Amino acid sequence: MLGLAAAFCRYGSKFGMRQQRFITALSACNKEEGQCVVGGHIDWDNLGFGIIPTDYMYVSSCTGDDGCFRQGKLRRFGNLELSPAAGVLNYGQGVYEGTKAFRRENGDKDGMFLFRPDLNAERMQISAARMCMPSPSTPVFLDALRQTLLANRRWIPPHGKGSLYIRPMVIGSGPVLGLAPAPLYTFLVYASPVGNYFKEGTAPLNLYVEEDFHRASRGGAAGVKSITNYAPVMKPLMTAKSRGFSDVLYLDSVHKRYVEEVSSCNIFIVKGNVVSTPATNGTILPGITRRSIIEIARDLGHEVEEREVDVEELSGADEVFCTGTAVGVAPVGSITYKGKRMEYKLGEETVGKKLGSTLFDIQRGAIADKNGWVVRI
Ligand SMILES: Cc1ncc(COP(=O)(O)O)c(C=O)c1O
Repeated sequence: MLGLAAAFCRYGSKFGMRQQRFITALSACNKEEGQCVVGGHIDWDNLGFGIIPTDYMYVSSCTGDDGCFRQGKLRRFGNLELSPAAGVLNYGQGVYEGTKAFRRENGDKDGMFLFRPDLNAERMQISAARMCMPSPSTPVFLDALRQTLLANRRWIPPHGKGSLYIRPMVIGSGPVLGLAPAPLYTFLVYASPVGNYFKEGTAPLNLYVEEDFHRASRGGAAGVKSITNYAPVMKPLMTAKSRGFSDVLYLDSVHKRYVEEVSSCNIFIVKGNVVSTPATNGTILPGITRRSIIEIARDLGHEVEEREVDVEELSGADEVFCTGTAVGVAPVGSITYKGKRMEYKLGEETVGKKLGSTLFDIQRGAIADKNGWVVRI
């Protein structure tokens, strides 16, 4: 078992090295990772979800009092210098967010757009408080996004080709040896153009229900976007991928019975007119896409239930779909649990497709944004 795990982790780091070579050789073209930069120009038709270094990043530091992130600056995108004793390196004191900037059909004439970035600011504040860290106020966070976006505007893919993924982070950057909050924090924002998150593109996902590993425990930090939530899912994720699955669906760690979420997205099941999703009770990330889809579904006349979803219900569901900033609204074609593969309805007539298209149309301005979710930069 250990040998197997080590092999998957080696696979992971080989992938990372390939990615690193790709970053340092900007004229490289790596179709395998789904993206290609030739002579500094991106092949917009082959964007995947990997880091492509852009021009600038936003950086701000503070010593730990709330409200202390004020004077951020744009710097050329590049490596950070950190003490080996930095809190983030030793104790994982770090939180992050993810949002996307996109263009509309008329390109630059229309401007650039963000989706509900105030909710990212609020979630970062909650995440940082859980990890004993300061966080930027909502106006500072939004201004940092705006500055990063304007400085990197040439990296926003043309309409329909993808988006500019924006990654705000707060890390404990000051040195600390005994277990304690770091004495200094860095708020930074960087960006990378992206296309589809999954190598499947927009094809349905095939999920694997994990029974041995859990993503979250009660009282833990899985309800916030702490960096510490992600390394532990790499082993089950790599194992599932090596067996041909797209991603892993986790169960609660107490009863090993209730569906929680996928490695980096929330999950919904559809049965008739009822759309159900696991309630956010501290072990699931309260996704911004999840919240938006719930609001759209109610608006379109669906009954929406936020509750415990028993894994046994998966066999009776009509449809399953995943939601997240990176993944969008992704249809699930099958889920494998205890060796049994369950298949779900797919296609244009599904509830998931309609909800996803409504969200996409609001973002792209094709239907009215009556709630003011879309912010023009
Ligand atoms: C574990 C996890 N769940 C769910 C989500 C979806 O959240 P959102 O819709 O805010 O991107 C993410 C993505 O950030 C995630 O990492």
